[in-house]
Amino acid sequence: MAESAPDLNPLDADAVDALVERALGDIEAASTLEDLRAVRGAVLGDSAPLVTANRTIGSLAPQDRGLAGRTLGGARSRLSAALDQRHQVLASDHEAQVLVEEAVDVTVPTRRRSLGARHPIETIMEEVADFFTAMGWEIAEGPEIEHEWFNFDSLNFDIDHPARQMQDTLYVDGRSVGGRTEEDGNLVMRTHTSPVQSRAMLERGVPLYIACPGKVFRADALDSTHTPVFHQCEGLAVDRHLTMANLTGVLDAFARAMFGPGARTRLRPSFFPFTEPSAEMDLWFPQKKGGAGWIEWGGCGMVNPNVLKANGIDAEEFSGFAFGVGIERALMLRHGIADMHDIVEGDIRFSQQFGLTGRGH
Ligand code: PHE
Repeated sequence: MAESAPDLNPLDADAVDALVERALGDIEAASTLEDLRAVRGAVLGDSAPLVTANRTIGSLAPQDRGLAGRTLGGARSRLSAALDQRHQVLASDHEAQVLVEEAVDVTVPTRRRSLGARHPIETIMEEVADFFTAMGWEIAEGPEIEHEWFNFDSLNFDIDHPARQMQDTLYVDGRSVGGRTEEDGNLVMRTHTSPVQSRAMLERGVPLYIACPGKVFRADALDSTHTPVFHQCEGLAVDRHLTMANLTGVLDAFARAMFGPGARTRLRPSFFPFTEPSAEMDLWFPQKKGGAGWIEWGGCGMVNPNVLKANGIDAEEFSGFAFGVGIERALMLRHGIADMHDIVEGDIRFSQQFGLTGRGH
């Protein structure tokens, strides 16, 4: 580094040259940008000999000042040019080095762990629950192994109603459930989510607005459109002054939320012991294969006053509407799934197509 006598004589051209030569050597020897910064300070900084000498020019004889100024100025500009040049070399070296050191090899194999997937029945059930809670309804759940009274009697099914027959209903052997005997058993795998209506009326009272998504069971064989274990979502509203207009309004809004703005519903007269009047609900499905059309989606009706009474509600003051829709059916319709086997078999490649939201994105 430039060390020189503190008092450089600006008129001593040899001394100035020697100093410049030494400084040029230091500049060339600087191997990093940081070194170079230090050299620049020593050579051209405030207390560098070339700079301090410059300040003495004013005290020289007037005729010497021009020469002194030119000598020092020439020396400073040579050094300044050398510093700039060295800086350029070191900076581009540095950049090249950073490129090498910080390079990321995007072709290096990673440890791949395949993620699981959410089953689309699960996500569509959440979507259904979100729709109803957004309207201020509550979610209600009930047991999958249900007492016959809730599954049938409280819902106004006659004792000899055909749905109670063995071919539809899976009866539970009392001895296999918590040591009950067959006599005090009367347990069934619930055949629909409607028993939750009854439980909710008894537990929560009125007014009541609930949606009950859940699993149901019927003695059916698995084929391309049936499965013995499937899912429904029940809706129940009990309040003063409810009419069928409220029912159709809710069903239309529900259909649009699930199937898009072009969807709507229509009702056809039907029969359920627990509703009067009762209806089958059809869905207008614009994306139907082979052209838009009506497809049966669920059952509904005004809650039968006998059901309100059986569950402790004043049927003079209150009325209600109820509906139940099939979740597998909704999924098959919405996503064009032709075979129920795909839904129940649990192949992860099937579920992955629906993504985390259930809609495939
Ligand atoms: N529980 C009926 C079924 O499973 C559907 C339904 C629900 C009908 C509520 C009317 C009212 O088919």
